[in-house]
Amino acid sequence: MIWTILLLVIGLLTLVLLYSTRTRRKNEPPLDKGLLPWLGHALAFVKDAAAFLAQMKEKHGDIFTVRIAGHYVTVLLDPNSFDEVLNDTVFMDFANNKEQLLKRIFLLQLPSVTTAAERKWMQQQFHGVSLSKLSRSMNGNIHSLLLSDLKGSSPSEWRQDGLFSLCYRLLFRAGYLTLFERTENATAVYREFRKFDELLCKTARRSLKRGKLKERLWELLSADWLRSSSHSWQQSYHRFLHEEGTDAEMQRRALLLQLWTTQCNNGPAAFWLLGFLLTHPEAMEALKSEIRDFTLQDTSIQPLESYSSPVFDSILSETLRLTAAVMISREMVQDKMLRMANGQSYLLRRGDKVVLFPFLSPQMDPEIHQEPQIFKYDRFLNGDMTVKDKFYKNEKRLKYPTLPWGAGGNICPGREFAIKSIKQFVFFLLTHLDLEMCDPDAKLPPVKASRCGFGVIQPDGDLLVRYRLKGIHPEV
Ligand code: HEM
Repeated sequence: MIWTILLLVIGLLTLVLLYSTRTRRKNEPPLDKGLLPWLGHALAFVKDAAAFLAQMKEKHGDIFTVRIAGHYVTVLLDPNSFDEVLNDTVFMDFANNKEQLLKRIFLLQLPSVTTAAERKWMQQQFHGVSLSKLSRSMNGNIHSLLLSDLKGSSPSEWRQDGLFSLCYRLLFRAGYLTLFERTENATAVYREFRKFDELLCKTARRSLKRGKLKERLWELLSADWLRSSSHSWQQSYHRFLHEEGTDAEMQRRALLLQLWTTQCNNGPAAFWLLGFLLTHPEAMEALKSEIRDFTLQDTSIQPLESYSSPVFDSILSETLRLTAAVMISREMVQDKMLRMANGQSYLLRRGDKVVLFPFLSPQMDPEIHQEPQIFKYDRFLNGDMTVKDKFYKNEKRLKYPTLPWGAGGNICPGREFAIKSIKQFVFFLLTHLDLEMCDPDAKLPPVKASRCGFGVIQPDGDLLVRYRLKGIHPEV
């Protein structure tokens, strides 16, 4: 009897092993399952995705498959081959992946809303007349929040704060006021949002139970919206969801998703930009000199709209090259032969995930950007001060020298609005405040490695700065 049971157990174990063990088939990318059964490389990936993927690139090259918590993920790191993924809507699917994330993080299901309809709506909101209206409102909000936070301060009085905290707080509230048009609770929403944002990576990776934070934010965001007669972006989004057949509860939950997508990147991006300026005096001087040129000609609060600012643009591109770390993910719905730019082909399996991680390549690729770890304010400038957009890998000009906004079907629809807002914010700070580091020898804090893959990286710590209002006339 005992032998029969033992044989049965061994047979079962063999079957489980046979079906759960995957081997590399002919033409497939190198397979690296890691040592831990099922988990594979999950721990290293969650701890620091950028460091882990850099190590795998070193070992396997520009394409490889890794096992992460039971999933097989093929990582493609050759930017010249990205279009094979970005343009594929037949063999690969984007929507399913997004749906799972929305369900896990935001407890949100929008079965009646198609990705295409939502994108079309978003694109309309952030283009043309709507974009100009939003940008004007954002400028006004940045301006008035900055000045009201400093109300009562005399020009000689210094204030001290963390730069990250200052940037996130101001830009978040200005963005919230612009899109949600709710003046009464912006500070409370910001406070709760930061707690939620802190826990976000854990929620996305399933290591956090449902908490009270989401409920609190749903409440704060939706209170009174039904009664409100405003024509805000938020109201318009509600109308869109309603017309698409979404029920009231899901409409309420969708607000938190939109708050997060529209507000989580601007503050951190502005922090890095100002942090790089403060720690690179030559960059600060170049930007101030450019600003001085057009503020002498135009004293309105929006001279940025009318003048080209190649130095500013290069500084922003360089900041995002170093800090925008999005993961572009697709699910394979059919087997596909993926043809790389170097002519080699690889078989990708149905059911696997495919991930592009542009932060590693092109953005931090030493073959494309020399000394990629170093901030160079003029990296995206030609000698004649025009925008530099020609970059090469293996002698082939790159279509994507950086990819902070994603690309293809999931490119950020708010990118123009984001660029205008960040530039306007930095412009106001530099023209209205004296801003300096408390310790002139301080360094920028390191990055929070565990957030890599979720948009603009956040710092692990802060940079202490002091600031005060300039004299009566703004100047740089
Ligand atoms: C530095 C600032 C920003 C960066 C780097 C950024 C980057 C991105 C990226 C990479 C995506 C694609 C994410 C994915 O693959 O799922 C995305 C999506 C999105 N972004 Fe941005 N973004 C920024 C600011 C903004 C702002 C200010 C807005 C609007 C006010 C905005 C609106 C959106 C929306 C609505 C989506 C979702 C699009 C969809 O699901 O189809 N973004 N953003």
